Amino acid sequence: MTLTNIFPWIQRAFHEGWAVGAFNAVNMETAQAIAWAAEAEKAPAIIQVSHRALLYAGEGSVERGLHMMAAVGKAAAESVGAPVCLHLDHGTQTEVLLALELGFTSVMFDADGLPLDENIAITRRLAQSAHAYAACMEAEVGDVPKPEAGEVVDARIGLTRPADAAAFASATGVDTLAVAIGSIHSGKSKTIALDLELLAAIRALVDLPLVLHGSSGVTDESLRPGIALGLAKVNVYTQLNLGFTAAARQVLDQAPTDVDLRPYLGAGRSAMIAVVRERMRIFGASGKA
Ligand code: G3H
Ligand code: ZN
Repeated sequence: MTLTNIFPWIQRAFHEGWAVGAFNAVNMETAQAIAWAAEAEKAPAIIQVSHRALLYAGEGSVERGLHMMAAVGKAAAESVGAPVCLHLDHGTQTEVLLALELGFTSVMFDADGLPLDENIAITRRLAQSAHAYAACMEAEVGDVPKPEAGEVVDARIGLTRPADAAAFASATGVDTLAVAIGSIHSGKSKTIALDLELLAAIRALVDLPLVLHGSSGVTDESLRPGIALGLAKVNVYTQLNLGFTAAARQVLDQAPTDVDLRPYLGAGRSAMIAVVRERMRIFGASGKA
């Protein structure tokens, strides 16, 4: 299927109490894993590409990375019958505009610490551009920390204030709103409980599908009620890497003199399909498409 504007699916998930999974891709194999998992689970899916993934895919050039991943995401979506969206994750203003030109069907602007009024002004303009392309617009209020390897951070510093979320939603015209409710990016084990009281307080003031970043470190016991409360797009990356890398490492360890790339990339891709499928079931997305 051609790339889908995922917003109607996110709205449906929001009203029915489940979530569309948004999974990060960095190359062909990871994009395939997401699309093929969507096909196997009969679920809508989002292939998302972050700023750092663009740097990787373009070997340092974001523009080259965007061109590459636009083509890869489109091909992956067209290889299946399930609805698949290509989303720019944590983009800058420039990246958002180029991604829209290149056919991404959803974009996120990451204000990266800008004051709220500047975040609102930029996001409002970008939302108009996204809608002119019939694409879905996501932005963030508050800050879900992105720790460097080994760095210890306090998630409570950037928590979303409900009044800010309400002002942001009505002033910008975004379709979905990413909120900081206790999660932290890049968690390798599931130990974090979301601040569900804060989530409920935000939902009392904001009638928009909400987005959870940093889901890998969040317990499923906390994710399920969070989804019921309005988290209708859930982002997953680190958990995919754990699955892919463990499988690839096993193949490499078993044949240390082998030089063929296909056995370990293929094993990684298969393992990632399994993780994506399992997450789709947890999110309640399986069988919905
Ligand atoms: O934007 C991407 C996500 O927020 C992924 O976070 O690596 O903690 O799953 P994660
Ligand atoms: Zn994120």
